[in-house]
Amino acid sequence: MAKIDAVVTGAGGFIGGHLTKALLAEGKTVRAVDIKPLNEWYQRLDTAEEVVADVSLLGEARSVLDGGAGEVFNLAADMGGMGFIENNKAACMLSVLTSTHVLMAAKEAGVDRFFYSSSACVYAADKQTDADIVALKEEDAYPAMPEDGYGWEKLFSERLARHFREDYGIATRIARFHNIYGPNGTWDGGREKAPAAACRKVAHAVLTGNHEIEIWGDGLQTRSFTYVDDCVDGILRVTRGDFDEPINVGSSEVVTINQLYALVADIAGVEISYKHVPGALGVRGRNSDNTLILKEFGWEPSTRLRDGIARTYAWILEQAKAKAAGLAYTN
Ligand code: NAD
Ligand code: GDD
Repeated sequence: MAKIDAVVTGAGGFIGGHLTKALLAEGKTVRAVDIKPLNEWYQRLDTAEEVVADVSLLGEARSVLDGGAGEVFNLAADMGGMGFIENNKAACMLSVLTSTHVLMAAKEAGVDRFFYSSSACVYAADKQTDADIVALKEEDAYPAMPEDGYGWEKLFSERLARHFREDYGIATRIARFHNIYGPNGTWDGGREKAPAAACRKVAHAVLTGNHEIEIWGDGLQTRSFTYVDDCVDGILRVTRGDFDEPINVGSSEVVTINQLYALVADIAGVEISYKHVPGALGVRGRNSDNTLILKEFGWEPSTRLRDGIARTYAWILEQAKAKAAGLAYTN
């Protein structure tokens, strides 16, 4: 195989689909890789070389990097929102096979740059116990007490990438994503995160006329949410920049979960009543401190939550209508 400009693993998923589209728009040749059958990919992009492969297996990771690559973006992981990661810790930790084998194959193939998608879930739990959160700086990952299961895998894989860079000279780059949302992502089925869940529940209220909505917890927990276009922009900047330590890619616009639901309802133009129910809560408060990314890149994610949620809600409303009509995805 000839050397390709970019390989994206997890390209059938949410962020990977948007990233592949952006790379193709730059005129790059892209090998898009995912374990899912092609009919389940969130975005199908004709000009990409689409490959169904399980890159947790070293042989398959090697084969998708055969011929070498300019940039490798490893986004493949078995993950989801709190409802998934709290109940599937072993499955989340098994993504270590993917993280390890794609990195080994990238090193062997002599790729120019290797990007790893880490998470705000690496941050120490004891720094996220208040809703009135102090935004998380990169050094807050240590002393280590990350999210059980998923967060430990991410923290381990960050360090693995760092040691491959130090010991073998492969140019690794790492971003810690803070709750990414947008169209063409998971919006039902149990792996969805709060923004997609809120959009789905409000869309359901609009379509059924039942305006009582369930929210996990008391809704006073806080988060910042990052629009997917900003995330892709951040991935490309971090991958192509000189800064080689883990860095936040996250919005610093913090809201309570109640405010998130109220925002979606306002965008939809419906009155809703809330019922607070038990659920997987995760940390009490989380926000991204963007001092470092501003210093290193003169940039930070800046899409206003209202603008990003309006685009996401419009897309999820269409999905919900299609599903109610017995149709498949309308991607
Ligand atoms: P996603 O679930 O939509 O996409 C991940 C994709 O990886 C899926 O399509 C899945 O089929 C694929 N995959 C899993 N195992 C694979 C394997 N062995 N071989 C090939 N493909 C495999 O998730 P996403 O939201 O697009 O997340 C992308 C990356 O960003 C993940 O590594 C995730 O942990 C990280 N991340 C995401 C968020 C977020 O809020 N979305 C936050 C922090 C970190
Ligand atoms: N998913 C979900 N669904 N969360 C809900 C719901 C719901 O219907 N209702 C309320 N919530 C609350 C959760 O209880 C949690 O307190 C908060 O909304 C945010 O939940 P998620 O969006 O699922 O996850 P998170 O922000 O705690 O963690 C996510 O972001 C990390 C990066 O910042 C996860 O997706 C992690 O996998 C990711 O790494």
